[in-house]
Formats: sequence, C-alpha cells, structure tokens
Amino acid sequence: MNIIKANDYNDMSRKAANIISAQVIVKPDCVLGLATGSSPLGLYSHLIKRYQKGDLDFSQVKSVNLDEYMGLTHENAQSYYYFMMENLFGQINILQENTNIPNGMAEDVEKACREYEQTIQSLGGIDLQLLGLGNNGHIGFNEPGTPFEQVTHCVSLTESTIQANSRFFDRLEDVPTKACTMGIKSIMMAKKIVVIVNGKGKADIVRKAFFGPVTTDVPASILQMHPDVTLVADAEALSLCDI
Ligand code: F6R
Repeated sequence: MNIIKANDYNDMSRKAANIISAQVIVKPDCVLGLATGSSPLGLYSHLIKRYQKGDLDFSQVKSVNLDEYMGLTHENAQSYYYFMMENLFGQINILQENTNIPNGMAEDVEKACREYEQTIQSLGGIDLQLLGLGNNGHIGFNEPGTPFEQVTHCVSLTESTIQANSRFFDRLEDVPTKACTMGIKSIMMAKKIVVIVNGKGKADIVRKAFFGPVTTDVPASILQMHPDVTLVADAEALSLCDI
C-alpha cells in the first residue's frame, strides 16, 4: 500500500487529483469509479479547474459511481445523481451516457443491483476506484459485518451512518435508510484504488482500517489485501498511525 501524506484537505485534494489526472491522461477512455460525500469535493474542483484550463479531457472517460440512496429522485438535491451533476459531471466534458449511478428509484431493487454489476463488467472493470472512508470503516455503503465477497447489492444503513448523513437533510426522518451500493468484491476488483481521508475525526478508523486486522468489522481493512491501493490522507487523519 502506498501512503501519501498531505498537509491538509486542499493538499490531499490536489495530490489525489494528480493521480486521477494521470489516469485520464495515460488512458483517455478509462473507467473511473467515483464517490460522493465531503471527502472528494476538493478533488473534484481541482479536476474541473484542470479541465477548464484545457489540461484534462473527459470526452472518452466512463464512470461508475459507488452508490445511491433508495427512494430519492434525480431532482432531489440529496441524491448522489444530483451531487455528481452539481459537483463534477455538469462542469466537465464527460458524456452523460458514459456516466453510471445506481438507479435509486428502481422498482425491482435486486434486479437493478444485478444490472449495475453487469454494467461494471461490460465496461471491462474499473481502472481506478476512488473511495472515501466512513467513520465506522465503511466503503461505499458496505457497513461493518458485510461479507467481503458481496457484489452490488441493496443495504439497510446503520444508525451511525444515518446520523452522519443527517447533516445534509433538514430532518432526521428525511434521511434515507436504504441504499444500493457496489459490494466489497466489486470494489476489490478495481485495478487501482485511491482512498482519500482527512481530519482528526477519522484518525482512529484510519489506524484500524490500514494497520489493524483484516476483519469484516472494519470493511475498509480488506483494502490491505489489494495489490494497488494508495491512501492519500492529511496529517490529522494519519496522526494515530506510526508512519
Ligand atoms: C460515498 C460513499 C461513502 C463515503 C463515506 C465518507 O459515495 O460511498 O462511503 O465515501 O461515507 O463520507 P465523507 O467523505 O462525507 O466523510
């Protein structure tokens, strides 16, 4: 595992943007696995700036997002579809038809999950998967206890994740309780994985995930077994690690 230590959030975002930019430059038709949440916002704005300067071209890039809430329409400002349009896709030249996000409004959720996994396979797999790290060690919406061998599936979110997400909603009751997520196996099949983490609040889970035992209690700990993982974390997030 490569660990890149960043000074702060902006430095983490810039360093991670360098890795993604390099991927797009060396393989213009690459498949990027993308994440939502607070962690990638700075990184996405670096990518947008580089696109605007003419340094990056996303016209052949394909993307697959990690997850989506169930029950939120595309127009709902809290859906991950909306997030991606606002914070990345709407501001770069990626083709809409080349972007993939699980269908949160699917009537047959199991079928939608199966089809999403097939979509990933039909694209030839993911070249680079970007991940944030949940406070409880989740990746995507794979909560503690999720079997490592699962592919894309529907999940019930844990109380701690619902609480963490509630900051984006007016009322706790509005926070979705289910999501469709790529499984840990889907993530582990990516050729390269980049994890971005910042802040003191995640220092303990960073230590457990990357230096503790590999256990389903800490889903991200499986990343220690992946042959090409780069952790880009700021000094605060790495403050409990002996590096
Ligand atoms: C987002 C996702 C989640 C987040 C994680 C960290 O698509 O799958 O696993 O990456 O919850 O969220 P932030 O970055 O908001 O701390």
